[in-house]
Amino acid sequence: MNFKALIILAISFLVFSCTTKEPVPMDLSENHVIPRPVSLEAAGSSFEITAKTKIILNKNDSTLQWLGNYLTDMINSPTGYKLKTMVTEDTPKKGYIHLVLSESTDLVAEGYQLDITPESITLKAKDHAGLFYGIQTLRQLLNSDIELNEQQAGPWLIASGTIEDYPEYGYRGAMLDVARHFFEPEEVKLLIDYLAMFKMNRLHLHLSDDQGWRIEIKSWPRLTEHGGSTEVGGGPGGFYTQETYAEIVKYAEERFITIVPEIDIPGHTNAALASYAELNCNNKATELYTGTDVGFSTLCTDKEVTYKFIDDVFRELAALTPGEYIHIGGDESHVTPLEDYIPFINRAQKIVESHGKKVIGWDEIAHADMLPNTVVQWWAKAENARRGIEKGAKVLISPAHKAYLDMQYDSTTQFGLHWAAYIEVDSGYIWDPTTIASGIDRDDIIGIEAPLWSETIADIDEAEYLIFPRLPGYAEIAWTPSELREWDNYKNRLGKQQTRFNKMGINYYESELVPWQPEKVESTELKN
Ligand code: ACM
Repeated sequence: MNFKALIILAISFLVFSCTTKEPVPMDLSENHVIPRPVSLEAAGSSFEITAKTKIILNKNDSTLQWLGNYLTDMINSPTGYKLKTMVTEDTPKKGYIHLVLSESTDLVAEGYQLDITPESITLKAKDHAGLFYGIQTLRQLLNSDIELNEQQAGPWLIASGTIEDYPEYGYRGAMLDVARHFFEPEEVKLLIDYLAMFKMNRLHLHLSDDQGWRIEIKSWPRLTEHGGSTEVGGGPGGFYTQETYAEIVKYAEERFITIVPEIDIPGHTNAALASYAELNCNNKATELYTGTDVGFSTLCTDKEVTYKFIDDVFRELAALTPGEYIHIGGDESHVTPLEDYIPFINRAQKIVESHGKKVIGWDEIAHADMLPNTVVQWWAKAENARRGIEKGAKVLISPAHKAYLDMQYDSTTQFGLHWAAYIEVDSGYIWDPTTIASGIDRDDIIGIEAPLWSETIADIDEAEYLIFPRLPGYAEIAWTPSELREWDNYKNRLGKQQTRFNKMGINYYESELVPWQPEKVESTELKN
């Protein structure tokens, strides 16, 4: 071989070895995805997202396009790449990420399949929600720099293998009390993003209480003008115009989260009673209230105007609600005699149904008759949940001593209350909806919800301290089958989320029960 040929050979070898870099060995089984996927098989290699990666959509469909854009935005901001989406039904090509909507019979609602090879990624689902959840899994499989908005070095590796995943429960929710303290629309949207990250799909908004009325009702304008003008502690309060509220609903819907709006009646109604004298039995408007007592207010159940009022409120609210449920509260109506409470709740359910929605109410509503689709939200008394089941209702599981996000972690926690329990991170995780109370079986349960009451928290930073790190645990209880849920396994995955929480700027409680550990960066040697 002459010298020139040798040089050409050497250059070709160099070019070849640079362009066909061996995939980095990685172990998918070392992932720390929350909620834990139903099944996962590691293949020992990895896929690298590069500037040449394309996002391929298998159909011309506007929601699929939205999902493609969501994924490209997620990748483009921290990588600095300019990835684009492309619609084609072609089979996987090297370097591509395929989002596939498929009629395949082995897929279930909200479930997804991920096939990750060094050549390509295929994410397949029966519905758009399933694709969205598959994208959330990819997000957690990437190193946490993916959460940042400025350009990072990479590399952007995803361990290879297959994942098949689907939820245990159809209702996987949290609640935010925007009545005791008002939360700005941007704060609610941030919470929606947190729920989406962990594949939760319901956000219950507690929109009215003694201290504030937060949703504009055009036929009763003083509810917000006057009733929305303060909050616990006497701050300025606030409310959502119907237009702003509709934006929140849309933002949630795009992330496959349904807003469940609550107007709490007949108790917890001082803000309404202060706004309209005629809702009171004595025709005198009450004073606005900025304390934290409960159980002292009631709508006047004997007056016809009360039913005109709730009919107007639920009609306007139903028009703003694409979801199937409206929540009527019904808790702690201590000054409504039971003989008045029962017919009131019966009538309220019929009013909600007349506006095309199904009813959820706190567990006390089980004292009334149950319409066929009514759901009882167990927060205080399992016997009320059982009473509801006997009357044909389903149950939403939110026992305060396990699932209330406003319960303090321990006696030193700055925010929150402890009337139901102290709920450390392990205690919030180690329970199962089907065994926590006798007589409430899998078939009776639509899902779980973790409520966050806001007597002690005034903004999203303070809320985050109670939400994190417990929220991912509630998401896992709702998504992952019980046989795959173990505290020791979970706490290690949670601990490995620390770097991600930090990069996301989350104000979390650094529980000593969680083995927090900085994220291992897969292959720093590649950066050299
Ligand atoms: C509630 O915590 N009063 C439902």
